[in-house]
Amino acid sequence: MDKKLKGAVIGTGGMANWVHGETFLNHPETMLVAACDIVPEKVEAFAKKLDVPKTFTDYRKVLKMRDLDFVDICTPNVLHSEIAVAALEAGKHVFCEKPDAVSVAEAQKMADAAKASGKTLMVMRNNRYSVAAQFLRKYIGDGMMGEIYTGRCGWVRRRGLPGRGSWFADKKMSGGGPLIDLGVHYIDLAMWLMGDPKPVSVSGSTYCKFADNVLADTLYSSGRTRESDRGYDVEDLAIGFIRFANGASLQVEFSWASNVEEEERFIEFRGTRSGCHLRNGALKVYTESGGQLSDLSPRLHRPGNLNDHALHLHHFVDVIKKRAEPINTPETGLDMIKILSALYESAEKGAEVRL
Ligand SMILES: NC(=O)c1ccc[n+]([C@@H]2O[C@H](COP(=O)([O-])OP(=O)(O)OC[C@H]3O[C@@H](n4cnc5c(N)ncnc54)[C@H](O)[C@@H]3O)[C@@H](O)[C@H]2O)c1
Repeated sequence: MDKKLKGAVIGTGGMANWVHGETFLNHPETMLVAACDIVPEKVEAFAKKLDVPKTFTDYRKVLKMRDLDFVDICTPNVLHSEIAVAALEAGKHVFCEKPDAVSVAEAQKMADAAKASGKTLMVMRNNRYSVAAQFLRKYIGDGMMGEIYTGRCGWVRRRGLPGRGSWFADKKMSGGGPLIDLGVHYIDLAMWLMGDPKPVSVSGSTYCKFADNVLADTLYSSGRTRESDRGYDVEDLAIGFIRFANGASLQVEFSWASNVEEEERFIEFRGTRSGCHLRNGALKVYTESGGQLSDLSPRLHRPGNLNDHALHLHHFVDVIKKRAEPINTPETGLDMIKILSALYESAEKGAEVRL
């Protein structure tokens, strides 16, 4: 076997500890040689847990390491572009958590740096790796749903602010609320399943009804608490409508807090041969036959024991090793940030925005 790829995790918070660190530790072709966080205790605890030899509190010093093949960025969103561009310029491959960047200009810099460096830049799209998504991509690609002319997708949390006072609710750090946080997952997934239609215009509305509400203290995601008094300046609900060049359309809805019965993650497509509804991981496919609903839902089971996030991290290694074509590219990431930014612009202007 070739020598192992040497990696460094930058930002050793929730995601790094939950899935990134262990995935690269357990992958037979990778090893972690460094970790970095601005909070020394966090990086020391991470390094101790995963036996990572070098720790840093300044990512620029990580990038000076000669014997380093890739970096894995798990910092707050505002740093994704800055760190990714610096890492690509230092000749490292880059995996970065979603969203790609907090603005179109920053996403463009990432795409340009990836092109100039010839290195791999890949941003997390774990939802493409769910067993239902993998099934649907093939089923739709094989024409089994006919023409998909419209769809709906969303992630609507009943109570799920990611910690009031955390960076997620600070627009400078996050780029926005649930639209950029959750929308980047599900709009990407819906468009990928629809066969990557070209978006031509969007219309959106955003709302912030819970930030200073007396209910706010009951609205945190489980396990999260108030982290500071930084405040809250992003939306808690975004809704929108995307039109595509081929005439298809997509309704979208993302919320961290809403008075709904229960949390729902969903994608629904209307096709000319059949329709489908993926709801909280359960997939139904149906059509009409003999005057009755005909259930075409598949029985799905996931081979292996890697979760969706780990599968995407493994794919990144496959791409570096030139065994696979990238499932997502910096250009598709840039397009996604253009859509999200246009939805915010539309909400601000109160008018449709052409892309
Ligand atoms: N794919 C998913 O399902 C998913 C889920 C949650 C979060 N995320 C994304 O993962 C990223 C991290 O989210 P999280 O929940 O782990 O956040 P977190 O706040 O738990 O962790 C971020 C870490 O980055 C560190 N950090 C801040 N500035 C830094 C700097 N300059 N250099 C190095 N480290 C720095 C912080 O100290 C913190 O430890 C975000 O971009 C988020 O959108 C993805």
